[in-house]
Amino acid sequence: MSNNARADVAAYLQQHETRSLLRFITCGSVDDGKSTLIGRLLHDTRLLLDDQVAALEADSRRHGTQGDGIDFALLVDGLAAEREQGITIDVAYRFFGTEKRKFIVADCPGHEQYTRNMATGASTADLAIVLVDARKGLLTQTRRHSYIVSLLGIRHVVLAVNKMDLVDYDEATFEAIAAGYRELAGQLGITGVTCIPVSALQGDNMLGPSEATPWYRGPSLLEQLEQVEVGPPGAGRESGARGFRLPVQWVCRPSQNFRGFAGSVLGAPVAVGDEIAVLPSGQRSRVAAIVTADGDLDQAAPGRAVTLTLADEIDVSRGDVIAAATDLPEVADQFAAHLLWLGGQPLLPGRPYWLRIGSRTVGAQVTEIKHRVDVNTQDHLAAKQLDLNEVAFCNLMLDQSIAFEPYADNHALGGFILIDRTSNATVAAGTLAFALRRAGNIHWQHVDVDQAARARIKHQQPRCLWFTGLSGSGKSTIANLVEKRLLAQGHHTYILDGDNVRHGLNKDLGFTDADRVENIRRVAEVARLMVDAGLIVLVSFISPFRAERDMARGMFAEGEFLEVFVDTPLEVAEQRDVKGLYAKARAGGIRNFTGIESPYEAPLAAELVLDTVAGDAEANATAVVERLLRTPGA
Ligand code: ADX
Repeated sequence: MSNNARADVAAYLQQHETRSLLRFITCGSVDDGKSTLIGRLLHDTRLLLDDQVAALEADSRRHGTQGDGIDFALLVDGLAAEREQGITIDVAYRFFGTEKRKFIVADCPGHEQYTRNMATGASTADLAIVLVDARKGLLTQTRRHSYIVSLLGIRHVVLAVNKMDLVDYDEATFEAIAAGYRELAGQLGITGVTCIPVSALQGDNMLGPSEATPWYRGPSLLEQLEQVEVGPPGAGRESGARGFRLPVQWVCRPSQNFRGFAGSVLGAPVAVGDEIAVLPSGQRSRVAAIVTADGDLDQAAPGRAVTLTLADEIDVSRGDVIAAATDLPEVADQFAAHLLWLGGQPLLPGRPYWLRIGSRTVGAQVTEIKHRVDVNTQDHLAAKQLDLNEVAFCNLMLDQSIAFEPYADNHALGGFILIDRTSNATVAAGTLAFALRRAGNIHWQHVDVDQAARARIKHQQPRCLWFTGLSGSGKSTIANLVEKRLLAQGHHTYILDGDNVRHGLNKDLGFTDADRVENIRRVAEVARLMVDAGLIVLVSFISPFRAERDMARGMFAEGEFLEVFVDTPLEVAEQRDVKGLYAKARAGGIRNFTGIESPYEAPLAAELVLDTVAGDAEANATAVVERLLRTPGA
């Protein structure tokens, strides 16, 4: 290839490198012609590019060189890396490009049981193509797809009214469907709607205008994909004015005297000298420098990855948000939010999960499901738990405050995921709606007599001994022996036993997973108060789930909580069957019996494991007392 031709190719590649990127999702089913539509876009745009490549090659031949060929893949597969990072196997990401733009299309199944796949695809999309069959018009699934699209804040929707050839390209048919859809979109709060009559099969209005629809003046599908304006990263729907924000991805400390905070600029530009605040702490400073790989800048626009240094030495950690001091996002720890449940196990109110928002991860629980939303009709339904693919409006409580903005205004500071603490799986995608104020008005009442003072007068170190194990494993027997010995040595103790507490405080609770979570939450809170009162508390509950035992542990200071696993195999507990409950459960007389219909998750790192087969109750009680009193200060 001649140098000239090389330069042409380089320029061509460069142009392709700098094309903007549009991510979109297609919503519809195979029957609507979704595969044909995607197939045609991929095929025809590939041809378009091939033409350009052929022209370039012809050009290089004209310049008197041997066309050593241009790697087509090079032009269109610059995005292959992203494909390799594909989020789930159920969503197929495809890539194509034209001279104006690069595209990633998320192709996901449209049926209700695939709502989570659709949400995965939609979570990063700038635009959604909602497909309907011109013969059928708007269907329940059109409503469902559009609802998910609105929930995830996609700003642009193209309604592709497909199979126009099968309705003789009838304008009235198209207009009726388009009018119906605009109304639906209005109800769902979707503002940017473009309706296009197409035949994916025949190619009408796909790449350019079709002669079959002279009455249609709007853009073709590809034209709309090429021209739609995509906001800067992190933008929400057409939002009001917003100031600069930078969620801190990491703190950069290459040397003693350099401390920078790296992340992407969102919302508005940032300039050297701007006054900022670091949230949630609220400390203020000024931007001292904006450092990038290409040198220092005076100002950086939204979307730019930068490292900021500040004029003052203030505390900034990963996950904090640096924001324009003149226009601060709110800080809160209780929220109303929409949740789309992605987990195989149901959402249980009260169970602790991790919540990840931007670069911040905090502990979170759903305190209340306000209502479930039927994804097909958007009706509000009562619900105690949330299953796979279901959507609900919930109250959330975090264990720390975060800086946030409603998702509608800012996706980066309002969109979050929930993570299971044990499996680390993503179990929900959510969008923050608004902060709940009620907690803000309840403050800790300061008391002068503290735990240390109460403990001192009792000459002991307060502790929570948490006995967990199957029903009939011997928890209560051992706890009872331990309490007697402690009492004999002058200690102040109290036993909280599952059977007893379920007669009073927890008498409204049964044995569903949700009730067990609440059972443990309450007894853990009571144990915490008793430890604060200076007591050694012995909790004897099956407490079958790791998540809640970990939650209980999290309520205590380091070393204050000792998990004692009363490790009796199911066969042994069942054989002993002290209360006759196993026999009854096997006969079908008790639902959700632990070990039979309901799981028991053995501890992974208990402070003490008691073998009740090899050792008798007395020996096990001795082991507990020794372990407890061995702890410094006890
Ligand atoms: S937990 O699972 O929620 O921690 P908890 O310790 O309070 O259980 O109560 C367990 C006791 O309730 C058992 O010892 C048994 O006597 C009784 N019980 C009644 N129904 C069940 C059931 N379905 N599963 C387990 N225990 C049950």
